[in-house]
Amino acid sequence: MYRITVHGDDRIAKIEPDLYGHFSEHIGGVFYDGIWVGEDSKIPNIRGLRLELVEKLKAIGAPVIRWPGGCFAETYDWRDGIGPREERPTRINWWRNSDGRYEPNSVGTHEFVDFCRLVGAEPYIAANITSLTPLDIRDWMDYCNSPAGTTTLAREREKNGSREPLNVKYWGVGNETWGGGGNMTGEMYAHEYRKYAVIMENADPHAQLICSGADHNDWRWAHDVLGVLESSYRIMNGFSLHFYCGAAGDPLAFSEEEWYKQLRQALDIERAIQRNWGFVVGYGMEKRARLVIDEWGCWHPGGSGPSSHMKDYGIEPAPNNPEGVQNLFEQQSTMRDGIVAAATLNMFNNHAEKIKMATVAQLVNNLHCLFLAGGPYCITTPTYHVFDMMKDHMGGDALRISGDLGEITREQEDRRRNYSVPNLSVSASKKDGVLTLTLANLSVTEAADVKLNLSCLEAAPEAEYITFTADDPHAHNTYEEPDKVHLTRETKTFDGSVTVPAFSAVTVRVRAE
Ligand code: AHR
Repeated sequence: MYRITVHGDDRIAKIEPDLYGHFSEHIGGVFYDGIWVGEDSKIPNIRGLRLELVEKLKAIGAPVIRWPGGCFAETYDWRDGIGPREERPTRINWWRNSDGRYEPNSVGTHEFVDFCRLVGAEPYIAANITSLTPLDIRDWMDYCNSPAGTTTLAREREKNGSREPLNVKYWGVGNETWGGGGNMTGEMYAHEYRKYAVIMENADPHAQLICSGADHNDWRWAHDVLGVLESSYRIMNGFSLHFYCGAAGDPLAFSEEEWYKQLRQALDIERAIQRNWGFVVGYGMEKRARLVIDEWGCWHPGGSGPSSHMKDYGIEPAPNNPEGVQNLFEQQSTMRDGIVAAATLNMFNNHAEKIKMATVAQLVNNLHCLFLAGGPYCITTPTYHVFDMMKDHMGGDALRISGDLGEITREQEDRRRNYSVPNLSVSASKKDGVLTLTLANLSVTEAADVKLNLSCLEAAPEAEYITFTADDPHAHNTYEEPDKVHLTRETKTFDGSVTVPAFSAVTVRVRAE
């Protein structure tokens, strides 16, 4: 029995809804034909966007979507993606050397913002500072945000269908600038950042600017970038962090050991959050900037997704993929990926005071995706269901938890390589008089009996229990069996006792004052 106390009088911070955000890059099958099917498609669509995906994303309250990359952003010129679609140029996509596809520019700024607005999400644009100038980015901001009829670019926007400003609030100043985004040193990037940021702030004083931060535990990067910017520097609203976990076996046929190795890697994001936040605070920037974890998730070897046998499903490849090459980085997701998602979102809730935004990579047909879609098919993955079951944490007040979360130790031949994971990952929040608790059981073999103690909270006699479980940790959804992994919901007596099945998660929602 695990005894856990929720401290109703110990508020950590508001859980920004943007912690439950998404990332959609022009890569593989994310946009073509995951999200964009085209207005003339037989697939139900709204202005060219896959209707089923739009509706399902809206249903989980997706708060923010990052675009157009990732690495794709490094060679993206926004001007290619505006104006009549049939006149837009086809360009070499950043990822062409990996999957042979070219960029048709059918999706540009208008289509992306339309997608966000249909879903109810805020657009977050990653600006290309590798191969565009500060003036180009100023013009992009002018095009998006200047009031109707004011500038030449606002009038061009109107000609292209949007009289009113697109009101893009979030702007990334480069992506992975230590790698594909210019291959810079921390000091070099910090000087570039100052140059771009001052122009961008001048173009739109309401814009929120995100500085390109570290990869995993690259403390040197945080030290070097923030060291140049220093506490007197004011034009920065977020410091990004990218954290992928992988290399733990086959995405579908992993062993018990690989289950735990994957979770161990995923949980290490906590150290990266704490260390990077330490630099933000250390350089005195915590009043202005919080962490933006704008790429996170499991990165398994590609090839396990349905696009590896598109022809068997009778799926017509997207127009920019005439050979029907499988989608780059597309991977299947099992209960293991779902539990990684639940444990990571719990972590974000528990560190709510440090994090401004997080966008899981990536939305569809890619790494740690919420959807797999091709031709007429559009299914949700276990990760989608985890975002669904945890959506009520968005905007709530994160509450401190204490108690025994257990420990699973994995003995290795070389004892120095022993490692452990907690049995349980837990977070709690309160919003509008309702307490929401998510408990993920990291054990792949044992159910966990939990006794909850609510301190300074009086709970109602009944609660809603949302359960994410399956009969096998390898369970996943396919085009043939799209609902193998799903959620169950029941309302029953609340007495503080919760049983979380092995490799599963439970969200409890109860009125509590
Ligand atoms: O998400 C795939 C790629 O991973 C992104 O383009 C890049 O930013 C990261 O390295």
